[in-house]
Amino acid sequence: MTTARRFIGKDCVVTGAGSGIGRAVALRLAAEGGRVAVLDINADSARETLDMCGADHKGFAAVMDVRSETSIAAAAGQVAKAFGGVDVLVNNAGIEIQGTIEETGPEIWDEIMAVNLRGPYLCSRIFLPQLLARTEATGGAAVVHNASLMGQVSSPRLAAYCASKAGVISLTRSMALDFATKNLRVNCVCPGIIHTSMLERRFALEPDRAEAYRRTSQRPPVHYIGNPEDVAAAIAYLAADESRFVTGSALTIDGGVGAA
Ligand SMILES: NC(=O)c1ccc[n+]([C@@H]2O[C@H](COP(=O)([O-])OP(=O)(O)OC[C@H]3O[C@@H](n4cnc5c(N)ncnc54)[C@H](O)[C@@H]3O)[C@@H](O)[C@H]2O)c1
Repeated sequence: MTTARRFIGKDCVVTGAGSGIGRAVALRLAAEGGRVAVLDINADSARETLDMCGADHKGFAAVMDVRSETSIAAAAGQVAKAFGGVDVLVNNAGIEIQGTIEETGPEIWDEIMAVNLRGPYLCSRIFLPQLLARTEATGGAAVVHNASLMGQVSSPRLAAYCASKAGVISLTRSMALDFATKNLRVNCVCPGIIHTSMLERRFALEPDRAEAYRRTSQRPPVHYIGNPEDVAAAIAYLAADESRFVTGSALTIDGGVGAA
C-alpha cells in the first residue's frame, strides 16, 4: 500500500475502470488523494470500483462506451460539471480477441480497433479541451494510454490485438509531440502478462486451467505473472508531476519477457 499523496487536488478520468488494471488505477489514484471519474461500459462494475474507493471519495461512476462519440461526449459533460476540468486521463479500456488474420473477419478487426485504438483517440480528442484548460490553470496535465507489450513485439494468433496496440504506441508519440509545448504530457504503458479477467478468459480456452497458469507463470524471466497493481503503480508515476520530463515514452512492465 502506498503512502504517497501525489494526486491531492487532481481530477482524474479512467476508462475501463470497472475491472482489472483500470480498477487498480482508479483505486491507486484515489488512494493518493485524486478525485476519480470511474468510467466503464458496465455500470455495475464501475459502481463497484467507486464503492471500493471509499465512502468519503468525491469522484463518481458513469457508463461510457469508448466506441461511441456520443457516449464519450456525455461522460465528458458529466466530468466538466462535476470536476470543471481534467488533470489526468487514463485510456485503459481494451479488449482481446485471438486469431490469425484468416480467423479474424473484418467485423472482429473493426471491433478490436474501435475499442483499443479508436477509443483512446476519441477519448483524448473529446477530453482535450478539459485537459488543456487544466494545463493553463496548473501548468501541467497528463494522458496515459494502456498499450501492451504486444504492441512492441508480437505473439501468434493475436494479429488485430497486436496491430491495435502498436497503433496506441504510435498515437502516444504523435500526441506527445503535438502537445509538448502546451504542457500536456502523453505516455503509455506496455504491460506483459497481467492477472486479470482478460487473462482468465484466455485460460478458459485451455483444456487444463491449472496447467495453463503454471506454464504462463514460467514465461516471464522473473517466473511469476504480474498483477494489476504493478501496472497501476507505473501509470500513477507517468500521471504524476514527478515524471514532468517524461513524454512520448512507452514503459514496459512485463517481468522481463520483452528483454528476451
Ligand atoms: N491483462 C493483461 O495481461 C494485459 C496485458 C497488456 C495490456 N493489457 C491492457 O490493459 C487494459 C485493461 O485490460 P484488463 O486486463 O484489465 O482487462 P479486463 O477485461 O479485466 O478490463 C477491461 C475493462 O474495460 C471495459 N471495457 C471493455 N470494452 C469497453 C468499451 N467499449 N468502453 C468502455 N469500457 C470497456 C470492461 O468492461 C472492463 O471493465 C486493456 O487495454 C488491455 O489491452 C492487459
